[in-house]
Amino acid sequence: MTEPVPVIRKLEHALADDDFAWSLMLVGEDQADKLATLTADLRGPFSATGDSKRITSGFSYWGIAPTIAWANATNDPFYLVMKAGTESFLRHWRKLRPHVDNGGFHLVSLGVGTGVKDRTILSDLRRHNRHMYYIPVDMSSEMLRMGTLEPVRGARFPVSQVLPVQLDFSIDDNMDELAQMLARLVGDEPILFTLTGNTLANFESDDELLGTLTRVLRPQDRLLLEVASTTRLDQETADAAADEYHQTRAFAEFVTSALRYNTDLKISNDLVKFIGEVEDDDALLVKILWQNDTGEEIRMELPDHTEVVLPVGDTIRLYTTRKYSTTRLKRLTEACRLTPVEAIQSQFRYTRRPNPFGLELLLLAPEAAGETANTLADDIWAT
Ligand SMILES: C[S@@+](CC[C@H](N)C(=O)[O-])C[C@H]1O[C@@H](n2cnc3c(N)ncnc32)[C@H](O)[C@@H]1O
Repeated sequence: MTEPVPVIRKLEHALADDDFAWSLMLVGEDQADKLATLTADLRGPFSATGDSKRITSGFSYWGIAPTIAWANATNDPFYLVMKAGTESFLRHWRKLRPHVDNGGFHLVSLGVGTGVKDRTILSDLRRHNRHMYYIPVDMSSEMLRMGTLEPVRGARFPVSQVLPVQLDFSIDDNMDELAQMLARLVGDEPILFTLTGNTLANFESDDELLGTLTRVLRPQDRLLLEVASTTRLDQETADAAADEYHQTRAFAEFVTSALRYNTDLKISNDLVKFIGEVEDDDALLVKILWQNDTGEEIRMELPDHTEVVLPVGDTIRLYTTRKYSTTRLKRLTEACRLTPVEAIQSQFRYTRRPNPFGLELLLLAPEAAGETANTLADDIWAT
């Protein structure tokens, strides 16, 4: 009798000739645990400043409604920063590309989004490594399905070399497991990890997240980090940063969608506040929060059918974002022993007055990668 062929090996052939839109995905975590976490995050004592009840990063994109809302927001022509960001990414990436051109890298995209940037990176990397794997990692299975369509259908990246992974990458154990699985998959071959779209800024503790991600980098790996930047750090500029997110209806729809989707709260956009502040003297922090300004107590039902009372003035943090100064970026990367191999910075030019905001794309190497990168660091941080 012949040995049975493992189902995964058979699947590739079974799916190859089928016109139906199958997608294959590795689920790393129990999704019921995630729902319990979200539910617990929405309880908590009174806070008038958005620092108690909250929807943390990842959960804002979790589920089909937030995924669609995110895709709509990124396509909204009135969301100028997003538009400028997508356009500038292409230019910036081209300047960094020579550093990864000949390495034979695989791509691990942390937070796939709509997949537009992955499409560009993949078509360039694949020219130098036809056998490369593309491993998009995201908390949202819907985002993974949507985001991988762009490189697979749009840029004809072979579906047999794509392995979408549903996982919360902000958890140390998850990153350890992912790193072990990747090592078994690619051996010693180098991996380019990407964290683009200012995703780092969405985490309440951005230094902790960067630490979690960089702990798993091997000397041959690289991290591509894209963040929003600012050249000014004062309250007026912090207010302008908050205003930037206030401009589009599609962004308001996105930012409220996780709360709409997971609770029975009726959300009026008038109760959504965009608050800017200077954080630690080296970054601008924007908190987007819902606040009960109705003058009456509100009751909200949670996914486990328990009720939470929202007294007058109470808040729910919907989203956190930042704009980084060079000082903050230097501090963050040095704490994680990352050395910049290359950094490209650009200022936004869509306003009539000079704009302090821009984007920074950094290619980073772990300390153990060697001296070449170290000599460049001083020049990069001096700019
Ligand atoms: C701001 S979007 C960036 C998308 C894309 N990289 C870009 O540059 O446009 C953040 C992405 O990261 C994912 N994400 C956020 N927090 C996450 C977490 N803790 N674990 C896994 N994925 C997360 C979201 O689902 C979303 O796809």
